[in-house]
Amino acid sequence: MRNRTGAARIHALAGVMVLVAAAGVARGETGLVFEAGHPSLQHWLLPERPPYPEDNEPTPERVALGKMLFFDPRLSSDGNMSCASCHNPMFGWSDGLPTARGHKSMVLGRASPTVINTAYNTIQMWDGRKKDLEDQAIGPMEASVEMNTDFDRLFRFLNNNQGYSEAFARAYPGEGINKRTLAKAIASYERTIISNDSPFDRWIRGDASAMTEQQVRGFRIFVDPDKGNCAICHSAPNFTDNGFHNLGLASDGGESADPGRYAIKPVKILKGAFKTPTLRDVALTAPYFHDGSARTLMEVVEHYVKGGVVRERVSPNIRPLNLTAREKQDLVAFMEALTTRHEPVTLPELPLR
Ligand code: HEC
Ligand code: HEC
Repeated sequence: MRNRTGAARIHALAGVMVLVAAAGVARGETGLVFEAGHPSLQHWLLPERPPYPEDNEPTPERVALGKMLFFDPRLSSDGNMSCASCHNPMFGWSDGLPTARGHKSMVLGRASPTVINTAYNTIQMWDGRKKDLEDQAIGPMEASVEMNTDFDRLFRFLNNNQGYSEAFARAYPGEGINKRTLAKAIASYERTIISNDSPFDRWIRGDASAMTEQQVRGFRIFVDPDKGNCAICHSAPNFTDNGFHNLGLASDGGESADPGRYAIKPVKILKGAFKTPTLRDVALTAPYFHDGSARTLMEVVEHYVKGGVVRERVSPNIRPLNLTAREKQDLVAFMEALTTRHEPVTLPELPLR
């Protein structure tokens, strides 16, 4: 992974935070100063470019090919389902459904997560069964309940299609058309699906008018360990610790409950634990949670305020919260400030032959 500038900046910031602490500057309870542009908050800004593997620099040719593949339903067996069917830019790169609909409209067990900013995550899927975007990309095609792809047929189609065979040759000269180059191209496109210019980001960079007073109050509650304590899991800079936690959702009860991370790592505390999702652009991706059980951001907040429903294996960081009605609204307003105003996504022209 190449991300030297990001790593260097985090180290530099740690230094700044130590210095500020030593100087005894007046600060909030968490050691942060809640002023637009304050140095103690800069670790909330994402590195400008997400990391990528050594052998897959996202060149324009690779991104363009990946975009065609991402939107092309001909990758699926029935010719009617693309990645964008479930990761649709009009629904914040999710699908607006409680849980996904797959092959032949089958209702699947988990919600489609957004693909926004997945490029910054160090582990993929609700249960972390994939390590990176290249590793992930072939999965939905292989899954009989999702795209159910017949790869022999698909590679015949891509090789015989002049547009695609030329695009592969430009993107991956000499590497051929195979599962590896298919995955690399899709991952390269996903690395361009980014939210990093929300009112929150602009406020962190120093534009005091970018967030309302209510949103700034919400941010304080979000990080305050005695209030929301949200940032313990939804941590900087991508609002995720890339970790797994059981939130005590109602669906965790009973024998048939989704085991979550436990199916991959059979450690007791991971039963019913799911990956912390990013909250960037979260206002665009309702409904929420891996089971789609919360319809709105306020319902999510109410879940945390209760401290969960099924408390058997709940994370020690999930406990009833003492928040007033106004504080709950502040939290929701803060999450709404995480939405980037994106340029409209143009659909790629798919090569007919
Ligand atoms: C039928 C709907 C559906 C289709 C089609 C689909 N996905 Fe997904 N995607 C999902 C669901 C559901 C999950 C979460 C599954 C899980 O974690 O068990 C997911 C997870 C992901 C993730 C992980 C995100 C994260 O935060 O962990 C990525 C990345 C992704 N999909 C990309 C793709 C790509 C690329 C394609 C096309 C090759 C694709 N998806 C096709 C429904 C779909
Ligand atoms: C113990 C870690 C932890 C804490 C504390 C926590 N979260 Fe979460 N959050 C998660 C995990 C894990 C999920 C996904 C859980 C699932 O679907 O099973 C999640 C899901 C969410 C979602 C739904 C996102 C989506 O795309 O479906 C929102 C919104 C959210 N959290 C906001 C908050 C807020 C606001 C707070 C503080 C009041 C908070 N979280 C505290 C770990 C945490």
